[in-house]
Amino acid sequence: MSKNVNQTGSTGNTVGKVGSVQASWDHLGKRGDGPSRNLLEVKDLKVSYGGIEAVRGISFDVPEHEIVTLIGANGAGKSSTLRSIVALEKPAGGSIKFEGNEMIGMGTEQIVKNGITLVPEGRRVFVNLSVYENLRMGAYLRNDDLQSDLDWVYTLFPRLKERSWQAAGTLSGGEQQMLAIARALMSRPKMIMMDEPSLGLAPIIVQEVFEIIHEINKMGMTILLVEQNANMALKAADMGYVMETGRITLSGAGMELAENPVVKEAYLGKSRS
Ligand SMILES: Nc1ncnc2c1ncn2[C@@H]1O[C@H](COP(=O)(O)OP(=O)(O)O)[C@@H](O)[C@H]1O
Ligand SMILES: [Mg+2]
Repeated sequence: MSKNVNQTGSTGNTVGKVGSVQASWDHLGKRGDGPSRNLLEVKDLKVSYGGIEAVRGISFDVPEHEIVTLIGANGAGKSSTLRSIVALEKPAGGSIKFEGNEMIGMGTEQIVKNGITLVPEGRRVFVNLSVYENLRMGAYLRNDDLQSDLDWVYTLFPRLKERSWQAAGTLSGGEQQMLAIARALMSRPKMIMMDEPSLGLAPIIVQEVFEIIHEINKMGMTILLVEQNANMALKAADMGYVMETGRITLSGAGMELAENPVVKEAYLGKSRS
């Protein structure tokens, strides 16, 4: 499927085309605007559940405007990593700096206000609320002009606009994933983290989810993507990190890792794509 979908304006896909969005968000800036800096710097992060060390001292950076992916098998510690970044889990050690400021010790709301948002594993939309209400919830920490962001996400996801008053629980899996992403965008993040956005979706819908990721990134958004679908994630990402039982065992440019024999053997053969 073409990556220039926003220019051609039509894909005939099944969760609704990605809309054409010309303007970027002013607050984001764009790739190549200035010297690149690390938006997120994670150092020696540890997360434990009782005696279980889920994350055993990992370090990685997310440069502004780039896509970074963490791949790894089920149980590797990917979700624990993302959840600890937004204080949904309390780190047992290490440092999480966002724009140079330590996030450990802050609450989730404060971290979201700083510009980080998480699209959780399994989407977790509010099934009894309408699409519109879900989007409003995404902006609950803000009291400035929501309409322009609502217009923006509706342009990006025309299917959601059509279904604005429909209960989220009645949307297809792919549409719910779009809604979860759109809802996260409503908090006006500088960086969006996505936890296995392709999980449980049909291959054609997975393609569309990756088109959206590409599109959002092109508009300036920094993305930290967690996937078991290693093949697609590495091809989409500037940088990739492989996690195994709580540790980072390999890292490199996304395309490079996708071609790495060790990665191919361990992950790409078993990839769901
Ligand atoms: N709430 C929890 N309580 C206890 N153990 C947990 C909890 N969440 C995750 N774990 C354990 O931590 C490890 C890493 O899990 P997780 O971060 O969900 O991995 P991944 O997202 O890579 O599949 C696993 O062994 C998992 O069983
Ligand atoms: Mg997970």
